[in-house]
Amino acid sequence: MISFTLNGKKVDFKGDPNMPLLWYVRDEQKLTGSKFGCGVAMCGACTMHLNGTPIRACSTPISVVKDGQVTTIEGLQSKAAAAVQKAWQKLDVVQCGYCQSGQIMSATALLEQNPKPNDQEINQAMQGNLCRCATYHRVRQAIHSAATHLAKEV
Ligand code: FES
Ligand code: FES
Repeated sequence: MISFTLNGKKVDFKGDPNMPLLWYVRDEQKLTGSKFGCGVAMCGACTMHLNGTPIRACSTPISVVKDGQVTTIEGLQSKAAAAVQKAWQKLDVVQCGYCQSGQIMSATALLEQNPKPNDQEINQAMQGNLCRCATYHRVRQAIHSAATHLAKEV
C-alpha cells in the first residue's frame, strides 16, 4: 500500500505502484485542475508539488510520492499562492487556461523559495511550463507583481 498526503488529507493507494500520479489524482480523486498535456514531462500542464517542489505528475509513478506531501492546484494555500492568484487575476494572465494550473503551481513554488526573483530566475523556474497561447510575458509580469505584493506584507 502506498500512503501519502494529498492536499492535507491522508490517502492510501492499493493499486499498481507504477500508475502515474496524475491518473490517480484526476481519475480516482476527481481533482481535475491538473491537466494532461504531453504525458512525457515536457509541457508542465500536470505540475503538482511534492513536499513543496514542482513535479510532473504525468511522469511520476505514484510509488515516488510514498509518505510525501502532494499538493495540487485545488489545495494550494499559502501567502505566496494567494499573491500569485491575485496577480493572475489583476493582470488577466489566462488565455485558454489549459496550461495555467501548471503555471501557477510553478510560480508559487518559485516565490516560496525565492520571494524576489529576477527575470532570469523566473525564466529558469518557468521554462518547463509551456503555453500554446504564449502568455509568457504576462506570467512574468504577474510573478513580479505577486513578489511586490508579498514584500509589502512582510
Ligand atoms: S502532461 Fe505532464 S509535463 Fe506535460
Ligand atoms: S493559456 Fe492557453 S495554453 Fe497557456
